[in-house]
Amino acid sequence: MTGEGRLADRSSGRGSGEIGVAALGAGRMGLTHIRTLAGIRSVRVLAVADPDPEAAERGRAIARAERAVTDPLEAIADPRVDAVVIVTPTSTHASLIEAAVTAGKAAWSEKPIALDLAETGRVVDVIARSGQPVQIGFQRRFDPGYMRAKERIDAGELGRIETFRALGRDTYPPSLEFLRTSGGLFLDMAVHDLDLARFLVGEVEEVQAWGANLLDDRFREAGDIDTAVTLLRFRDGALGTVETARHSAWGYDIRTEVAGSEGKLVVDAPQKTPATFSRRFGFEADHFENFPDRFEVAFRRELEAFFDALENGRTPAPGPAEALETLRLAVAVTRSWREGRPVRVADVTA
Ligand SMILES: NC(=O)c1ccc[n+]([C@@H]2O[C@H](COP(=O)([O-])OP(=O)(O)OC[C@H]3O[C@@H](n4cnc5c(N)ncnc54)[C@H](O)[C@@H]3O)[C@@H](O)[C@H]2O)c1
Repeated sequence: MTGEGRLADRSSGRGSGEIGVAALGAGRMGLTHIRTLAGIRSVRVLAVADPDPEAAERGRAIARAERAVTDPLEAIADPRVDAVVIVTPTSTHASLIEAAVTAGKAAWSEKPIALDLAETGRVVDVIARSGQPVQIGFQRRFDPGYMRAKERIDAGELGRIETFRALGRDTYPPSLEFLRTSGGLFLDMAVHDLDLARFLVGEVEEVQAWGANLLDDRFREAGDIDTAVTLLRFRDGALGTVETARHSAWGYDIRTEVAGSEGKLVVDAPQKTPATFSRRFGFEADHFENFPDRFEVAFRRELEAFFDALENGRTPAPGPAEALETLRLAVAVTRSWREGRPVRVADVTA
């Protein structure tokens, strides 16, 4: 039986229409997602799991869940759990998604499925065999700006797409400890802009990347870079650039432009508070600090969309196959930087 069928049976069986949820991981992002879950009408959080009992209890209290547990598998196994929300460290996503879908549960997981193409491909196959609905957390696809851009592009209002330009600049550089397991600048950070390139323009044929260490020695010690420029050649002939940096002295800086024969779309967010102060030829506004404030709406909408899809029997998106193709693109870019040569995305098979 598919997840949709099981969910439909379960809701009608209980008569409440509620989707029973296990939330795994109650760290920085986990608490953000648990706050959202607590506000979704169709969701009832049954358990919050985190190996740190204090974190699990914090999450339980926010979700008003029945139980806080330290073992995620115990939470998944509860027969009343229909869907599992995974916001644990990256290295645990693959095994927890696999545990959820093989137990017959739908799953929503933070990106990525894994940092490795072979492991991601294996989990994508397991998900396909299970027939369970799965969504991966590329939240920018749910930002009101990017949603508007997608609608206009898909409606053909830009005409033939000629160029894509994205810039991503994080406010705070990560710790050396985080960098060592992050997968590197392209898999951890530029991946959001690469996903947007695929989402807004289409598949990429070939990439060429340059990287630099301009910030501090942590990045060199981790075998990583802190600043990069990537060139993209899309399958349909359009060209693109992605600029990525791990530090910003002025605030979180995410900008995107898609230009075509009939018009251009710019997604910009230079100002956080909708108030400006102008005086003596000067102009003041405030910047977003980081991803939690810039993408607050998107983080909420991606989970709402997942549960809306489950409730209405639609396939949630972006799904595992999308996550696999975005990872393939990020691996191609990493390879291009490391090997100092252009890389065709189709050649990246493992
Ligand atoms: N989409 C985005 O923009 C975005 C932004 C930040 C983080 N993330 C992703 O979210 C995930 C979590 O990041 P974070 O910043 O919240 O990390 P974090 O370290 O703050 O929190 C992780 C939590 O998971 C718990 N945990 C560890 N192993 C577990 C297990 N097996 N089962 C249940 N809980 C477990 C930890 O105790 C911790 O409380 C990462 O994969 C990260 O890549 C995505």
